[in-house]
Amino acid sequence: MAERLMKRTLAIETIDAIGQEVLLAGWVNTRRDHGKITFLDLRDRSGIVQMVVIANQQQVGAEDVVEVVGLVKSRPASMVNPKIPTGTVEIEVKKLTIVSHARELPFPIDTDGYDINEEIRSKFRYLDLRRPRMNRNLRMRSRAAAFIRNFLLARDFIEVETPILTKTTPEGARDFIVPSRLQKGNFYALPQSPQQYKQLLMVAGLERYFQIARCFRDEDPRKDRAYGEFTQLDMELSFVTQEDIMQLTEDMFARMVAELFPQKYISQSPWPRLPHKEVMATYGTDKPDLRKDTNDPNELAFSWTIDFPLFTEQSKDDFYYGSGKARFAPSHHMFTAPHADDIPLLDTDPLRVRGLQHDLVLNGFEVGGGSIRIHQPEIQNKVFELIGFSEEQKSQFDHMLTAFSYGVPPHGGIAPGIDRLIMTILGEPSIREVMAFPASSGGATSVMDAPSAASTEQLAELGIAVIFKTK
Ligand code: AMO
Repeated sequence: MAERLMKRTLAIETIDAIGQEVLLAGWVNTRRDHGKITFLDLRDRSGIVQMVVIANQQQVGAEDVVEVVGLVKSRPASMVNPKIPTGTVEIEVKKLTIVSHARELPFPIDTDGYDINEEIRSKFRYLDLRRPRMNRNLRMRSRAAAFIRNFLLARDFIEVETPILTKTTPEGARDFIVPSRLQKGNFYALPQSPQQYKQLLMVAGLERYFQIARCFRDEDPRKDRAYGEFTQLDMELSFVTQEDIMQLTEDMFARMVAELFPQKYISQSPWPRLPHKEVMATYGTDKPDLRKDTNDPNELAFSWTIDFPLFTEQSKDDFYYGSGKARFAPSHHMFTAPHADDIPLLDTDPLRVRGLQHDLVLNGFEVGGGSIRIHQPEIQNKVFELIGFSEEQKSQFDHMLTAFSYGVPPHGGIAPGIDRLIMTILGEPSIREVMAFPASSGGATSVMDAPSAASTEQLAELGIAVIFKTK
């Protein structure tokens, strides 16, 4: 900063600094010329404040970065702007330094931006994020993560990071794979979720784990589904029932909404627990929108869908499970436990077996999913067989069965999707509105435009040759 002797004052702090000379730094939000004087709104992370510049100043334009020394004055009553928190003051500029100039922006940032082409927003995401709405979304997301951390740490949970370079953990999508240089011809898979690691952490005796975890899934994007990667609040607990998991989740999010989103209200508590069969018969979907008034942007209607069938009939789209020849695919994932009363049906009528799965639903979106897990190797084996796993496919999960042979506690968990949850609470129309740098629907990353070709040297080091095939 130019004026190192002065401490920087934030825009919002000027309301308590009337009569003082201050140093402000930030972007020029707007410029309005009124003959001899010019009004500049300065924007920093705390908001905006109006500055008054007497003529003959340098040419300063919107989005330029400036440092300003000026006197904080209270505005005459007739000039007070009640719409901004600093509306009672203005800064009489003594010295203005342009730190860096801004070219004309490719799109306006003082609008909500919904009507601007997605590709351009994505290419210039760092400008799109200057938009107050996007700025607020990132802030609320950060505050939600902090709330969750504090809530869980205060209840004896341990936060653990699990590997990103790992082996397949199927959740129903295609894997992303990463070639290994040290073991040429072998590949890591990026985790579709930390499912296996969190179960192994229960074998390790942690009892209460969480992680704000990145998950990677190669599947077609939708407005509520990000392409490539997204974030889960991943949780796992030992010695618990489904009811314990649902109550904890409910307590956490009810408090989070009250504290961070006070303008929102939860229309029904406790959150209804709806058996799958009933909810399908009544609403024709397993994620019903239970809002009493869908025109009300502040209503949050949470519910639980439980008692899902453990298996669905495998369709040709379920390429990822088993040989593709088996009739059954897991409704949730293959580690979900059958209802104790239904275990005999695994041999006689698998489609009638209920799973101990719980989905968290909010305003018609599935914002979380989880289950009590299988902890008996013989039942896990049976599920592998029913979903058509070959011996080789089964052997990919040997480590789980081995781990379970050393004293495994009964356990279960849940993983609310952070992006989808925040999107739904804020009433945003797409998940990309709450992600800093989301990939486009075509799979290109924001700003940096990956994926891109690897160099010949990189490929040689990996022992990989790229052959382009036309179908
Ligand atoms: P599941 O696959 O149901 O369960 O995912 C849990 C939650 O993650 C969110 N989610 C997504 N959000 C954005 N983009 C996506 N592509 C995406 N896919 C999923 C949803 C969903 O409810 N390991 C299990 C959890 C468990 O059993 O504990 C799992 O990942 O909100």
